[in-house]
Amino acid sequence: MTFIFPLRIKGGKPIPLFPFVAAVFFCSVNGALQTSGILLPNTQIHHWFQKARFCLGIIILFFTGMCINIRSDILLTSLRREKEGTYQTPRGFLIEYVSGANFLGEKVEWICFSVACFNLPSLASAIFTLCNIGPRALHHHRFYLEKFEDYPKDRKALIPFLL
Ligand SMILES: NC(=O)c1ccc[n+]([C@@H]2O[C@H](COP(=O)([O-])OP(=O)(O)OC[C@H]3O[C@@H](n4cnc5c(N)ncnc54)[C@H](OP(=O)(O)O)[C@@H]3O)[C@@H](O)[C@H]2O)c1
Repeated sequence: MTFIFPLRIKGGKPIPLFPFVAAVFFCSVNGALQTSGILLPNTQIHHWFQKARFCLGIIILFFTGMCINIRSDILLTSLRREKEGTYQTPRGFLIEYVSGANFLGEKVEWICFSVACFNLPSLASAIFTLCNIGPRALHHHRFYLEKFEDYPKDRKALIPFLL
């Protein structure tokens, strides 16, 4: 996703160098940590993996989060493609319930991944992802409410019906 997402954007804004380098660094270190967390021997993952039902539940939930994330990203980037440089009220799918539906999907993914792996790297990643995309979702939502007078008032920022 790290490489596919930017390549799919048409008509995006230029991005400053520092956030770009920081994102590449974050994704590389995080990827290495998660891989070592899974592959290192004697971690509890083997214990959890023996429980097939648990695993299946996590896998189904993880892929549900992934589908929410990808589908919402497709809807949002297609808005960018339609009208370059302008923002529109996003519509459709879970975006009808939360402005940050792509972030909600990402959150579900990381929580499920963390429960499935049950190790420190995945827990750290789940927490730090929330710290990163949570405020982003709140900021986007505030921006929409200020910019669009007719923005749906019952739509939340990140968690349907709650936040
Ligand atoms: N794991 C992490 O820590 C982390 C951190 C950040 C992001 N991510 C993931 O990376 C992906 C992208 O994140 P992002 O922060 O770039 O998402 P975003 O701010 O929602 O933007 C996604 C794309 O859609 C466009 N867009 C969004 N709302 C729009 C609107 N109302 N009208 C027109 N275009 C609109 C944006 O254009 P503009 O760029 O021009 O606004 C951008 O090209 C998501 O899947 C997210 O979950 C993960």
